[in-house]
Amino acid sequence: MKSKPNDLSRRELMKKSSQVAVASALTGLAVPAVHAAGDETIKVALVGCGGRGTGAAFNALSTKCGPTELVAMADVFPDRLAASYKQVQRKFEKQVDVPEERRFIGFDAYQKAMDCLRPGDVVILTTPPAFRWVHFGYALKKGLHVFMEKPVTVDGPSTRKLLKLADESEKTSLKVGVGLMCRHCAARKELYDRINDGAIGEITLLRAYRMVGPTGSAFVKKNTSDLSELLYQIKNFHGFLWASGGAFSDFLIHNIDECCWMKDAWPVRAQGSGGRHYRGDAIDQNFDTYSVEYTFADGTKLIVNGRTMRGCHQEFASYAHGTRGSAVISTSSHSPARCRIYKGHNIAPDDLVWRFPPPEPDPYQLEWDHLMEAIRQDKPYNEARRGAEASLITAMGRMAAHTGRVVTRDEMLNHDHDLGGDLDQLTMDSASPLQAGEDGKYPVPQPGIQTKREF
Ligand SMILES: NC(=O)c1ccc[n+]([C@@H]2O[C@H](COP(=O)([O-])OP(=O)(O)OC[C@H]3O[C@@H](n4cnc5c(N)ncnc54)[C@H](O)[C@@H]3O)[C@@H](O)[C@H]2O)c1
Repeated sequence: MKSKPNDLSRRELMKKSSQVAVASALTGLAVPAVHAAGDETIKVALVGCGGRGTGAAFNALSTKCGPTELVAMADVFPDRLAASYKQVQRKFEKQVDVPEERRFIGFDAYQKAMDCLRPGDVVILTTPPAFRWVHFGYALKKGLHVFMEKPVTVDGPSTRKLLKLADESEKTSLKVGVGLMCRHCAARKELYDRINDGAIGEITLLRAYRMVGPTGSAFVKKNTSDLSELLYQIKNFHGFLWASGGAFSDFLIHNIDECCWMKDAWPVRAQGSGGRHYRGDAIDQNFDTYSVEYTFADGTKLIVNGRTMRGCHQEFASYAHGTRGSAVISTSSHSPARCRIYKGHNIAPDDLVWRFPPPEPDPYQLEWDHLMEAIRQDKPYNEARRGAEASLITAMGRMAAHTGRVVTRDEMLNHDHDLGGDLDQLTMDSASPLQAGEDGKYPVPQPGIQTKREF
């Protein structure tokens, strides 16, 4: 049976948590209060009050292991904050105490919101991914437990920053959850255990698909609004590599991560292709098809297909194939996963060996239940490194498709193309890290022509 990295990291973290006092003294990080009793209210701040941030706040306030209260909110758009506040307040009236003076707008709003918390409280980081290292760094300084959405990095430089922060966080007893919620899914967990017990033999191939129609802000038109370039790009962050890693990173990371989980490894290199087929008057940086082959150290392949195109075959699923059969890791979108094992490779009803019995608990809630339990019981819990690794591997596949080259993990990690730059210095008047050309269009990848960098 394969070793389980989850258990390994747990043991390592147990060892590290005993070094908390020493490490905190060394790094100057605040040591969080332990909410061991379970009856003390944990205060929560929300940074990035969009769709997922509002959902994560719902999840945080729905946890059952002790009282929680939302006390501060931060965004760069007042209307986003106001809409989010209204929704959370309506549903969790008694658990929301965010008066006007604790609703903050601007690029420094994250600091003001976190300043409302005590060490040991929780901050939710759900802005576009570009800001993760900035906000995570401040959360650590303040001794806050963190929930941050995926991807947590977009390129080599931001991954190096995040990994450094992950190092620091591991020297404390802070808990860090990353929104790769499939890792908390009960069905996938049982599938993972069964694969580890040999149910499909040795894995020989993994396949993942997110082949759907136009998604999120993957297609962005020229900015004809009053918004500055910076705010326009942030609002449409799936269209811009600096902000999100683009459609590839933001959309495909879950399927890539769940496949790597089943294999218990990260790929070492990738090659890929893709193109801009039907862009209409969209001027963002995305391809609308991606096909990437990842290779693991033992030679096993993971094939990933992404498409944002109408009128084509639609599939949003991941599969594992082994020497003794195959498995469905996810069936359609993220939840329910409807995990199954088959004796052949046909995914045919007659060959069904096992299926996870429905209903499946919601993984978005489970990831929060697990995080809050760990905080209350002071159990080791830190997903920052794993989140950075998943983000890096995803970016490696994207860069392979964008440049038309084989890209290794180490090249991706050490690459100097810093897409976002000094995002900790931004003000509302700052220029965007990405400028449009005179034709109003943004630079796009050109595989085979522009091969050293993605654009
Ligand atoms: N785990 C999942 O299944 C899942 C699902 C959706 C989104 N996400 C992730 O959540 C994150 C947010 O996605 P979303 O769909 O909620 O986007 P969104 O645009 O709805 O929300 C992002 C919010 O952050 C705000 N914001 C942007 N920059 C900011 C800054 N510097 N400081 C403060 N606020 C800022 C925006 O104004 C917006 O309100 C992304 O990383 C995305 O990949 C994860």
